[in-house]
Amino acid sequence: MERYSSSSQKMRHRSFLKYFVSVCLLFLIYQSIKTNSALEKLEKLNEIVSEKQIQLALLATSIPPTKSNDPIVVYAITPTYARPVQKAELTRISQTLALVPNIHWIVVEDSEEKTTIVKNLLNDLTYQYTHLVAKTPSIEKLKAQDPRWKKHRGVEQRNVALRWLRTNLVLNKDKGVVFFMDDDNTYSVKLFKEIEKVKRVGVWPVGLVGGYSVEAPELDPKTGKVVGFLSGWRSDRRFAIDMAGFGINLDLILSKPDVEFSYSAQKGFQESEFLVKFTTKEELEPLADNCTKVYVWHTRTEKPQIKKFVDGFEV
Ligand SMILES: *[C@@H]1O[C@H](CO)[C@@H](O)[C@H](O)[C@H]1NC(C)=O
Repeated sequence: MERYSSSSQKMRHRSFLKYFVSVCLLFLIYQSIKTNSALEKLEKLNEIVSEKQIQLALLATSIPPTKSNDPIVVYAITPTYARPVQKAELTRISQTLALVPNIHWIVVEDSEEKTTIVKNLLNDLTYQYTHLVAKTPSIEKLKAQDPRWKKHRGVEQRNVALRWLRTNLVLNKDKGVVFFMDDDNTYSVKLFKEIEKVKRVGVWPVGLVGGYSVEAPELDPKTGKVVGFLSGWRSDRRFAIDMAGFGINLDLILSKPDVEFSYSAQKGFQESEFLVKFTTKEELEPLADNCTKVYVWHTRTEKPQIKKFVDGFEV
C-alpha cells in the first residue's frame, strides 16, 4: 500500500513538474514575444522621434533670426548745437529717455569737437548713448553748390548718426527702430511704446506744427490705411510729415545704406524726400491709436534775452 502510494505520489509529482515547467516555458515565450513587440514599438517610436527631430532642425534653420527674443532698441538721433538753452533742452529730453527701456541715444553735436557741457550731461546717464560730432560745412563751401543750405538744419548731424548705425550695427542681427528726436520738442513716454511697434515705417500725429494745432496722417476709415495728410503747410508733399512724426525700422536703414538727408532737398521737403526712398504712402503703419493720439509736440523754447553771461556756472 505504502509503496503504491509512494509511486503514485512520484508520478503526480512528476506530472506536476512537467506542468510547472510547461507553464514556465509558456510564460517565458509569452514574455519574450511581449518584450519583442514592445522593443519593436520602441524602435518605431524612436524612428518617429528622430524624424521629428530632423523636421524640427530644418524648421529652426528656416526661422529668420528676427524671431529672437532680443529687445527692440529705440535709436533716438538728436542733432544739437551750442546755445544758451542747449543744456536745458537736452536735460528735458534725456530725462524722458530715462523712462524708456532699451533706448540708445545718439547725440550729434554741430561742432568740431565734443563740448564739455554735452559730455558732462551724457556722463550722468544710466542708459546707452553715443556721442558724435559733425560740423555743418561753412557757408562758403556750400554757396556754390546750393544756395538753400541755410534752410536745412541737422543734415550733417543726422547723416553722421546714420553712418554710425550702418557701421556699428548688423542687418538681421541687431533689432531696432530709428527715430529722429530733435532737442527742442516735448516727447511723451507713450510715444516710445508706439515706436517699438514699427515694422517698416510707422507714423503718428505731431502737435503744434506747421501752423496747425496738430499735423496728422489721415486714414481711410474702412481700410485703416494712410490716404493723406492733415498739415498746415504743403499737405501735397508725398509725405507731409514732420521729423518727429515717423520711425523707421533699423533693418530698412541698414538695407539701404546710401539713403541720407540731402542739402539739395527742397526747403521743407527733407522728411518727404527721405521717406520716399524707403516706403510708399500705402505701406505706412499708422500708430498712436490709428493716429488719433498726440504724444509729441513741437514746443519751441523762447530764446532768452541774456544781458550777461556769468562766469563760473555751467548753465
Ligand atoms: C484702427 O483701425 C482699424 C481699421 O479701421 C480697426 O480695426 C482697429 O480696431 C483700430 N484700432 C484702434 C486702436 O482704434
